[in-house]
Amino acid sequence: MEQRSQWGTRAGFIMAAVGSAVGLGNIWRFPYVAYENGGGAFFIPYLFALLTAGIPILIMEFTIGHKYRGSAPLSFFRMKGKGAEWIGWWGIFVSFVISTYYAVIIAWAMKYTIYSFNLKWGDDTGGFLFGDVLNLADNPGEVGGLVPGVVVPLLLVWAIAFVILLAGVKRGIELANRIFIPTLIVIFIMVVIRAVTLDGAAIGLEALFKPDLSKLADSTVWVAAYGHIFFSLSIAFAIMITYSSYLPKKSDITNNAFITGFANSGFELLAGIGVFAALGFMATQSGQSVSEVATAGVGLAFVVFPKIISEMPGMNGLFGALFFLSLVLAGITSLISICETYIAGFSEKFNISRTKAVIFGVGSAAIISLLFATRGGLYFLDTADYFINQFGVAAIGLIEVFMISWVFRKLGVFEAHANEISDIRVGMLWRVCLSIITPLVLGYMMIDLFRVNIM
Ligand code: PHE
Repeated sequence: MEQRSQWGTRAGFIMAAVGSAVGLGNIWRFPYVAYENGGGAFFIPYLFALLTAGIPILIMEFTIGHKYRGSAPLSFFRMKGKGAEWIGWWGIFVSFVISTYYAVIIAWAMKYTIYSFNLKWGDDTGGFLFGDVLNLADNPGEVGGLVPGVVVPLLLVWAIAFVILLAGVKRGIELANRIFIPTLIVIFIMVVIRAVTLDGAAIGLEALFKPDLSKLADSTVWVAAYGHIFFSLSIAFAIMITYSSYLPKKSDITNNAFITGFANSGFELLAGIGVFAALGFMATQSGQSVSEVATAGVGLAFVVFPKIISEMPGMNGLFGALFFLSLVLAGITSLISICETYIAGFSEKFNISRTKAVIFGVGSAAIISLLFATRGGLYFLDTADYFINQFGVAAIGLIEVFMISWVFRKLGVFEAHANEISDIRVGMLWRVCLSIITPLVLGYMMIDLFRVNIM
């Protein structure tokens, strides 16, 4: 057995945790989730979810990792024996699946960073993405051969992840985050400043922030807020347990959790402002309303944004390159955290070296990800993402908090552990959030999902 790795510094750990949390989800997912769910009014359920589920679970996961010093399966094993290990493996399985398509989106962003300089997408940005870049098959489900233009950047993304992960926790993950995260913040602030100074930016911001208070009575808005917080903070996917298992003995858990949670939300807010300012510009240019130009997910980043970039006055190529580079940086720091869950899991379970676990784990994820680089890739990606988001997130979060609070009855032990080493102390309120509020909301979310999808 190799000696267990450790973060070099507290700031290094925080950078890594923030690097994991701040990802593709913050830049393209948050803006439209907020917009679709009541705009300014969404901030109420969002803050509620952050404070009752996001940060409390982050504190819990940091405590688990710090206390048991193991990957997610090993930590659950040490918590409650053989019968609990599967909870960790489930998180790892979901992480594994996410990593296979997450890498593909980073690969597209990489291509678009370069395309930005000469606005290569032309006038028909949709046609360019689906035809020239993805070479999309006509039928969903048709695999139809690898698309070389996607395979090459995809292998590059995996090569970068591979090198970082192989170098280890301190010299790889920590170092990469210490370089990438500050760079990302500087670049992204420049992007947002440019976006808010565009013509029509105010219209976009008004669309994002104008509260539709009637939405607050709609339970789907609350469910969306909880779902987003889980995704955005990388909780319940075995990720934060793994990262905190490398914390030194003397570490302030609650403080780190608050910093991570607020930093992530701050970035998300910034992304919302930048994206909607740009959409306001687009709406003004085309004489449409913001809701006509605001689309979700892939379409927003790779169809609407290129269009906006083309229409921007002055230095637009540079703006585009910086925007897509932010996606790449935010994506890679999250991707390595997702991969680290299975690297740690495999190396401990099979007692193999980190090097072997990286080769085996990242290697197999890379091979599977090639499926998304085929002509049918986008359909598979949509399907995988849909299932992970619809069922993975709620189910896994529910099982984790429910088992820990009601079956293993460990909250008291964790509370004592966290309080012993942290400045901010947790208590009754924290336990209520985890044992009652979060399971109720997630339980409702599951029932609702089954109702909508199956019945
Ligand atoms: N939290 C990151 C994001 O917002 C990465 C991540 C995505 C983590 C999905 C877990 C699951 O993109």
